[in-house]
Amino acid sequence: MNVPSSAQLGLLVLVVGCGSAEPSPPPEAPSAGPQPAEEDAPGACAPIEALDALDPRMPVPLQPMMAWHQKQNMMEHLVAIQRITAGAAAEDWEAVAEASALIESSPQMQTMCRHMGAGAEGFTDLALEFHSRADAIGVAARAEDGPEVLRTTAHTLEACTSCHAAYRQQVVDAETWQERTGSAHDPAMVHGAH
Ligand code: HEC
Repeated sequence: MNVPSSAQLGLLVLVVGCGSAEPSPPPEAPSAGPQPAEEDAPGACAPIEALDALDPRMPVPLQPMMAWHQKQNMMEHLVAIQRITAGAAAEDWEAVAEASALIESSPQMQTMCRHMGAGAEGFTDLALEFHSRADAIGVAARAEDGPEVLRTTAHTLEACTSCHAAYRQQVVDAETWQERTGSAHDPAMVHGAH
């Protein structure tokens, strides 16, 4: 009988691609440089599209390296909060100030946030607001004011949770990122500095 094999079905999915609105370039296009690797596994698209349809948050377009970098930053943010609360419980104000310094505002942090939020309106403002809330944790720690450390930490966490409620990552290729942000990506500029 002519039942298509799963390999044939897999090929079909591969040809259709990951629901991108843009047509993929013809395979024989003359290449003027390194081409992005085709990393999508066959059959990976439908579940990704299903997730996109379920998640109503605003997408933040990021290239894969930026998305991974953002996730690493996020994990570090959570470690900072962990250390702040442990320090506060032990009334070790120096430890609290050291930990809060990891999420405080700095020129590098601001450059990074502008870069990450370049394709999502409002994202950078929330990010900068988050870091400026975190500045107050160090001030309270240096004043050895425990209740104020907790209040400013809660205020900072509110900035984490409201951003998470509003935005999600959307991993895109370099061309799409440039289209959405109107900027060129120089990975060495930001990612190398970390
Ligand atoms: C300006 C926006 C913003 C702020 C502020 C923010 N985050 Fe995030 N965070 C994100 C986005 C976007 C993601 C990716 C969500 C997704 O999976 O699409 C994320 C993901 C995470 C993740 C998951 C990382 C992973 O491995 O997938 C953790 C943990 C996290 N954030 C912790 C924090 C903590 C803790 C704070 C505050 C101290 C914080 N974030 C503040 C935007 C933000």
